[in-house]
Amino acid sequence: MRKIDQVPALTFLSKSRQIYKDPLPFHHENFEKYGNTFKISPKPGLMIHFTCDEKIAQYILQKNQKNFNKSSLQTDDLGKYIGHGLLTANGKQWRANRKLIQPAFYKKSIAQLMDNMDAVITAELAHIKSGATTDVYEIFNDLAFKVVARSLFDLADLPDLDQKIDRLQFITEQAQKMLIKELRVPWMKWYFEREWLSGEKSIPHALALIEEARDLIQSIITSRRESNKQTGDLLDMLLHSTYEDGTYMSDEQLIDEILVLFVAGHETTANALSFIAQLLAHHPETLKKATQEARQIHKGDLMTQLIQLPYIKQCVEETLRLYPPAYVTDRVTLEDDVCDDIVLDKDSIWLISFYEMHRRHDLWEQPHDFIPQRFAPEKAKQYRDFYFPFGAGPRMCVGNNFAMFEMILIVKRILEQYTITPVNDTILYHPLITLKPKEALLKFEEH
Ligand code: HEM
Repeated sequence: MRKIDQVPALTFLSKSRQIYKDPLPFHHENFEKYGNTFKISPKPGLMIHFTCDEKIAQYILQKNQKNFNKSSLQTDDLGKYIGHGLLTANGKQWRANRKLIQPAFYKKSIAQLMDNMDAVITAELAHIKSGATTDVYEIFNDLAFKVVARSLFDLADLPDLDQKIDRLQFITEQAQKMLIKELRVPWMKWYFEREWLSGEKSIPHALALIEEARDLIQSIITSRRESNKQTGDLLDMLLHSTYEDGTYMSDEQLIDEILVLFVAGHETTANALSFIAQLLAHHPETLKKATQEARQIHKGDLMTQLIQLPYIKQCVEETLRLYPPAYVTDRVTLEDDVCDDIVLDKDSIWLISFYEMHRRHDLWEQPHDFIPQRFAPEKAKQYRDFYFPFGAGPRMCVGNNFAMFEMILIVKRILEQYTITPVNDTILYHPLITLKPKEALLKFEEH
C-alpha cells in the first residue's frame, strides 16, 4: 500500500498566516511536492487528506459513495444556520428528499421556468450603468438570488414581494458571513456567542435572523396552501409529492429545503458569472465570437434558443474549469476502505480539490489558459473523468442544468446589449466557503 506523505507540522504552522489569507498556493505547493495526495494534521487528533487524484475523487464521490458522508462542516456548522436540506443532510433523509426534489430540476421542468427567469434577468440587468465602473459581483449576486427565488417559487401574488425577497437575501447572506467568521477564527467563537454583542458580530443575532426567514417562508407556504392555486413551481411540486411511504414532506423540512436552495443556488452562480464576465473582458477575440453568437436570431422557445449557443456554453464550461465556485468538497470515511493502493481509514477526512484537478498539467493542455474551444462537443467527452465543477455521483449538484441555462441566458442578454472591458489587469479571487471573485470591476458600454 502506498504511504501518504504528511506535511510537517512546522511547515504548516509557519505558513498559517498565508493559509488563512489564501490556502490555494499552499495546496498547490504540496501537490507539487508530494504528488496528487498528501495529508496534514492541523491539530492533535485531526488528520485531513488532500487529494486532486481523479481516481480517488471518483471512488469517494461515485463508485463507493455509500461509504462516505459529508463532514460536520457541512452537516453541523452550515446546517446550524440553514437546516438539514439536500446540501447538509446525509443518509436516508438525504436520499428520500433528493428523490422528491430531483424532478423539479429535469430539463422539461426548467423549460417551464425560463420565461419567468428571463423577466427577472432583464429587470436586473437594467440596473447596469453604461460607461460606469461596475463591481459585477454585486449585480450578479442580486440577480442570482432573485432568479432562484422568483423562478423556483412563483411568488407574483405575494404582498410586498420585493421587500420580502430582499430580506431573505440579506438574512441568508448574514448567516453565511457569520459561518465564515466561526470557521476562520474559531478561537473567537466564545466571543461571537455572547448574547449582548450587537448586529453582525453575534451568532445569536444571526440565528434570530434565520428564525425570521423561516417564519417568512412558512407564511409563503401557508398562503400557497390556503389559496389552492396550482402554479407548477417547485413549491407546488413539493407540497403535492409524497415519499415512498405515502407521507408528505413536513413544513419544517420544506423550509430547510427552500433555505438550502437559496444558499446553494445563488452564491455559486453569482461567482461563476463574475468570473465569466471578467474572462470574456480579458479575452477580446473570445468576447467578439461570443457576442456574434449572442446577437444571432435563433428560433424556438427560450430553451431551444439557448441550446443553439454552443460557444457561449463552452465559455461557461471553461470558466467553471478555471474558477470552480465549489473549489473543494469533503467527505468522511464510514468504514475502512481501499482505493487502488491507497488506504482510506475509518473516520478519515478527505478534501477533494476540484480547483487543482482542473489545472493539472498531465490532464489538461495549457491548464492555466482560457481556451473555451477545448469544450467543443467532439472534445468535451475526454474530460468527463476529471472535470467536476458540479461534483460527481449521486450527490452531484441537483441544480446543474438550471445553473447552466441560467448562466448561458444571462451571458446572452448581456452580450446582446453591452460590450465589456476590464478595469483591473488580473482576475482576483477569494477562497471562502465558495471561490469568490475579488474586485470584479468591469466597464459596460451600451451597444
Ligand atoms: C455555477 C453554479 C453551481 C455550481 C458550480 C454548483 C456546484 C455544486 C457542487 C460541486 C455540488 C456538490 C457538492 C458535494 O458533492 O459536496 C453541489 C450540490 C448542490 N447544489 Fe449546486 N452548484 C451550482 C448551482 C446550483 C443551483 C442553481 C442550485 C439550486 C437552485 C444548486 C443546488 C445544489 C444543491 C441542493 C446541492 C446538494 C445536492 C445533494 O447533495 O443532493 N446548485 N453544487
